Amino acid sequence: MENFVYSVPTKIYFGKGQLDRVGMIAAEYGKKALLVYGGGSIKRNGIYDRVKELLEEEGVLLEELSGVEPNPRIETVRKGAAICKEKGIDVVLAVGGGSTIDCAKVVAAGACYDGDAWDLVLNSRKIKKALPVVTVLTLAATGSEMDPTAVISNLETNDKLGTKNEHMRPVASILDPTYTETVNAWHTGAGTADIMSHILESYFSNAEGYMQDRMAEGLLKTCIEFGVRALKDPKDYEARANLMWASSWAINDFLKLGKPVVWSVHPMEHELSAYYDITHGAGLAILTPHWMRHVLSDRTVEKFKTYAVQVWGISAELPAYEAAELGIEKTAEYFKALGMPATLKEVGIGEEKLALMAEKAAGRLAGAYVELSKEEVEQIFKDAL
Ligand code: NZQ
Ligand code: ZN
Repeated sequence: MENFVYSVPTKIYFGKGQLDRVGMIAAEYGKKALLVYGGGSIKRNGIYDRVKELLEEEGVLLEELSGVEPNPRIETVRKGAAICKEKGIDVVLAVGGGSTIDCAKVVAAGACYDGDAWDLVLNSRKIKKALPVVTVLTLAATGSEMDPTAVISNLETNDKLGTKNEHMRPVASILDPTYTETVNAWHTGAGTADIMSHILESYFSNAEGYMQDRMAEGLLKTCIEFGVRALKDPKDYEARANLMWASSWAINDFLKLGKPVVWSVHPMEHELSAYYDITHGAGLAILTPHWMRHVLSDRTVEKFKTYAVQVWGISAELPAYEAAELGIEKTAEYFKALGMPATLKEVGIGEEKLALMAEKAAGRLAGAYVELSKEEVEQIFKDAL
């Protein structure tokens, strides 16, 4: 296990009714809040009205940035940063899924930066300050509610890039699982696949971390148990609660501290959503089994066997390759059970841009569990066609 500093200061308010505290939490940070939300789900399920009421009760004035896109665009971030500067916003309140929260984070950083917010996506070291970000999570998936990362798209350049800076880590997040009951089957499945992918990205590392790996296996089993349960019954509170808390712990640094690794499947998927605007979790579900098959080798087979035995209950008596391959098949089958596509064609992706996307993704894989050339990434894309 390598050295690390652990500091995850996001205050979590978990459970039914925690939204009632939102006015009080926002008021801790100032008198003017920017409410950031997406395409309207929060209006349909009543959170919007309730948030406004609670903020008014605490005397917090509200400005709004609405219409944040899934795969949030830099234009929307720019709009939000401009509102913050113009109106003297004190705190940014994101109510929604990962896209809304990511947008809010860069809005908060952009509000404290003189240049163009895209600079902050290209170079996270330019983020020297950000307004405090408070979130109300409505979709269990990205873990953005407890991490310092934001992923922003620029359609002009076909870039979808992550930027990471401690100033953007939310100061507080409200996690009420009942708000995820209205998430449809597609986003429930995609969200669960995303959580699992975050865990796997840290699990497959060349550094050792016995304790982290056992925790990771527990979180994976949690997703496997409750992902399909939430699909079967969207109002299953235990399922929604377990998925929500797993989403935060998958990516809040805990699993990766001590065993750092550059992620593999995410850089590849981000190219797919940059060029084709597909749902992030669906892209991960398609690519992950192919990535696993591609990196399975004499060097990695024991780790894949451990994964198969610990997570999927494959017999430890089996030879390493047989067990590893069964574990990979189980992974692919589970993503199908989540209603996720298994091929790129199903999400409208053909051969045209595979080489271009592979080149961009391969440039981000130095330090990965298995470093891949652009030809290898392209092969994984082709295998997934
Ligand atoms: O926009 P609204 O109307 O709110 O609808 C959203 C959206 O259409 C809907 N939704 C959210 N909560 C709902 C709901 N519908 C009904 N009831 C609810 N309670 O779900 C749709 C998808 O929302 P989105 O926020 O886009 O999904 P997700 O949370 O999966 O976020 C995806 C984005 O996060 C990035 C992804 O790349 C993608 O851009 N990621 C962010 C990460 C991070 N910050 O650390 C890490 C991830 O790996 C990921 O890259
Ligand atoms: Zn992800």
